[in-house]
Amino acid sequence: MLEKIDQLASEARADLQGARTPEDLEQFRIKYLGSKGAVKALLGMLKKVPHEQKPAFGKNANALRQELEQAFKDRRGAAAGPPKRGRTTLDVTEPGLGARLGREHVITQTTNELVEVFGRMGFDVATGPEVEDERHNFIALNIPPEHPARDPLENFYIATAQTKGDASGDASGGGGGGMHLLRSQTSTIQIRVMESQPPPVRVVAMGRVYRPDEHDATHYSMFHQVEGLYVDRDVSMVDLKTTLIQFAHAMFGPEAEVRLRPSFFPFTEPSAELEVRFQLQGQMQWMEIGGCGMVDPNVFEAVGYDPEQWTGFAFGLGIERLAMRK
Ligand code: DAH
Repeated sequence: MLEKIDQLASEARADLQGARTPEDLEQFRIKYLGSKGAVKALLGMLKKVPHEQKPAFGKNANALRQELEQAFKDRRGAAAGPPKRGRTTLDVTEPGLGARLGREHVITQTTNELVEVFGRMGFDVATGPEVEDERHNFIALNIPPEHPARDPLENFYIATAQTKGDASGDASGGGGGGMHLLRSQTSTIQIRVMESQPPPVRVVAMGRVYRPDEHDATHYSMFHQVEGLYVDRDVSMVDLKTTLIQFAHAMFGPEAEVRLRPSFFPFTEPSAELEVRFQLQGQMQWMEIGGCGMVDPNVFEAVGYDPEQWTGFAFGLGIERLAMRK
């Protein structure tokens, strides 16, 4: 008789374990715990149990009933989801949920990476103002008054108290003079750095520049450039090329393809454009990411460096375009 209890126990435990849905659980309840269920029937058999087995049978049968009722309750409770958190479950020592802070803008991320990559190559960081005078934006950079880059249609000139009634500009190269404008290039910072310190120089400068360009996938009226300037004795075009290739590999990975194409800038001689190959608007293309060259002796003269003693290279790259390539 006692084996009957064990048999029922293992059958019921297996059924309960196999129950997946609330309907399965209900089936289990009816089959074992209901008023016509197997446990009731088992207890009803007590009468027929031989006298000497009665106490053990009664005890085991009751134990099984309790076990199955408890196991059924536990399963039903779990199926109904976690118990509701009452006041007593509030843990005041638990740290709160942090506010979401967002992330850095992709231009900031790229700028920070430029500071780091050029920093590893020994470049310090310099800065300059966004509102510039013509001397720093053009004159000292060997850009003559008739140059198309100085056209009012190519620049955001600003009417200031100083420039009102004095629209003639100051082509003399002295002082800050002339018109003011939102700088059109970070090359202005080359001039500011060389004016403020003797050579050797090894700096990069990042910042916003402004041009009334028509907007398209690769142009906008405000964008960011990183300017580089290296002045020392016996600096050559090889140094420039090596620096730019090393930079491109550090920034984009060793498989990056870059090339220099001959070009012209008034402040460098010789000059080149730096191009990088990547997928743009669905096609593999070479895209210009900036200009570079050997610093023109006229620029050294404008800042009081002796061009017989000092040589240097410079470059200016578009940060948006670097970010696009990344
Ligand atoms: N300032 C140039 C531009 O905005 C880019 C440039 C070219 C910068 C040559 C340089 C350079 O320093 O050497 O188009």
